[in-house]
Amino acid sequence: MIHEAEILGQRCLAPGVYRLELFAPAVAEQARPGQFLMVRTSISLDPFLRRPLSINSVDRRRGAVTLLYRVLGRGTRLLAERRLGRRLNVVGPLGRGFTVPVSGTVVLVAGGLGIAPLFFLAKVCCRQGNEVLLFYGARCSRELVLRRELEAMGVRLSLATEDGSAGEQGTVVELVRRKGLPPGVVCAAGPPPMLRALAAFLQDMGREAEFSLEERMGCGVGACRGCVVKVRTAEGFAYQRVCADGPVFRAATVVWE
Ligand SMILES: Cc1cc2nc3c(=O)[nH]c(=O)nc-3n(C[C@H](O)[C@H](O)[C@H](O)COP(=O)(O)OP(=O)(O)OC[C@H]3O[C@@H](n4cnc5c(N)ncnc54)[C@H](O)[C@@H]3O)c2cc1C
Ligand code: FES
Repeated sequence: MIHEAEILGQRCLAPGVYRLELFAPAVAEQARPGQFLMVRTSISLDPFLRRPLSINSVDRRRGAVTLLYRVLGRGTRLLAERRLGRRLNVVGPLGRGFTVPVSGTVVLVAGGLGIAPLFFLAKVCCRQGNEVLLFYGARCSRELVLRRELEAMGVRLSLATEDGSAGEQGTVVELVRRKGLPPGVVCAAGPPPMLRALAAFLQDMGREAEFSLEERMGCGVGACRGCVVKVRTAEGFAYQRVCADGPVFRAATVVWE
């Protein structure tokens, strides 16, 4: 599952946020929402470790796959410099993704770049006829990327920004608390403080959810145990690998430390 994927395009959607399109027909064919790729960000072996990025969407007809990422450090900075037509070495699709509900309403909660995997899930759910509601929060209006595409797909959006430049002012979890959570399957992705706050709210409401978690990764395939999180099990507690046992976990099982 190592692929030399041709770069079809790369667009800056907001300051420091890029959407990269790759020609990777095998990935497009196999990928499920919530899965990710381990990306070699430079043409050399420096940085040595690949970087995990969620699969943001696939177009099976064109064999295309998109990734949506924020420039944080060296790896993502190098990735933003990669040019059209060059090849990108990627491994995947990896991990266990979201359970895609066959019918009914799907409630998505995205914080910032948490929209990356949830966009793919929204697309699949809209296509199969689910009603899709998205609570979407970011720091400011410009960072609420892919809004137009989501609306065009038929997703109903509720927005929150920390500076009040779009939607309600505050965090996405505050928005969910204010508006209330409609009935339906709940899936969320975003930074750990957001997921932790959402987990507490869901617990108060007695609602189940699936969360996509992020941890720094070494191998990405379950071998190094560098990405473990503590989860509740029938026997007590266990450490599970975000890359191989996740990245999607049942919210109620995650122990927030
Ligand atoms: C399963 C999975 C899916 C992901 N999907 C996406 C995605 O779709 N889009 C996206 O923008 N990012 C995503 N990430 C996070 C992404 O992998 C990191 O931002 C990236 O590896 C940073 O690499 P870097 O070399 O630019 O930064 P580094 O130089 O490695 O680090 C720069 C800074 O970022 C912090 N950092 C690095 N990795 C993470 C991480 N995993 N979580 C929190 N902080 C981190 C470091 O502590 C450091 O402060 C995902 C992570 C996982 C585990
Ligand atoms: S990154 Fe190596 S086990 Fe998860």
